[in-house]
Amino acid sequence: EVMKELFGLRDLEKSLERRFGIKRVFVVAGNSDEDEWVKKELGRACIQLLKSRLKPNDVVAVMGGTTLAAVADMMMPEANMRSVTFIPARGGLGEQVENQANTISAKLASRAGAQYRLLHVPEQISEEAYASLVLEPSLQDILKLIKSASTVIHGIGDAKTMALRRQSQHSFVDKLVNEDAVGEAFGFYFDRMGKPIHKQRTIGLQLDDLENDDKYVISIAGGDSKAQAISAFMNYRPSDVLITDEAAAESLLALP
Ligand code: G3H
Repeated sequence: EVMKELFGLRDLEKSLERRFGIKRVFVVAGNSDEDEWVKKELGRACIQLLKSRLKPNDVVAVMGGTTLAAVADMMMPEANMRSVTFIPARGGLGEQVENQANTISAKLASRAGAQYRLLHVPEQISEEAYASLVLEPSLQDILKLIKSASTVIHGIGDAKTMALRRQSQHSFVDKLVNEDAVGEAFGFYFDRMGKPIHKQRTIGLQLDDLENDDKYVISIAGGDSKAQAISAFMNYRPSDVLITDEAAAESLLALP
């Protein structure tokens, strides 16, 4: 019975790899929309992958969200990660403190016994303030470290859900709906085809930093409510790894 289950999940993984051109997909059993423990399983799968991949002195940039918070919860002391640095990939996006990239990278590091750096930037930032902040020497240091990251771990959210959770203005939420935004990742909103249609302005990794292909990108998102969002992001750029759950996997494969 257990083996049948395993083969079933491996079939889902292979079908997703083929359909979206993702190098490696991991599917855990269940539906994280319904059961909180499934999110922990996503987190556990991510930690296993990190354990097998990370090398001394690696820099890992992480994003925020409840799924990434579950990744941090599953981290264990890892002697091999002592010289690894966890760092937030981007500045604040309007999340509660436990779901912020800063909090998550600090927690990953303290649980693993690894290093971390914080990125202190205001959440609402004007174009002018942004332009002068990025010139600050202390920020330039950390921005360089972020851009040097070999691995990036991020969640994917449903566009409207994320805009509402981040207390965006009504006019912005309406605009997203009108423009058919379906997915969100890194504070960028994507339409079905994977076209970025809006970005939240904050310091750190920008989308074109992912286009160079020098970073190993791990996307982690589950629950059938996220199928369209995951598909949108994979249409933008197939990740090196997608970690998802059975419910999202089945909905993804059923998309037209
Ligand atoms: O950017 C994506 C969102 O942060 C996903 O958030 O993991 O809480 O669904 P979530």
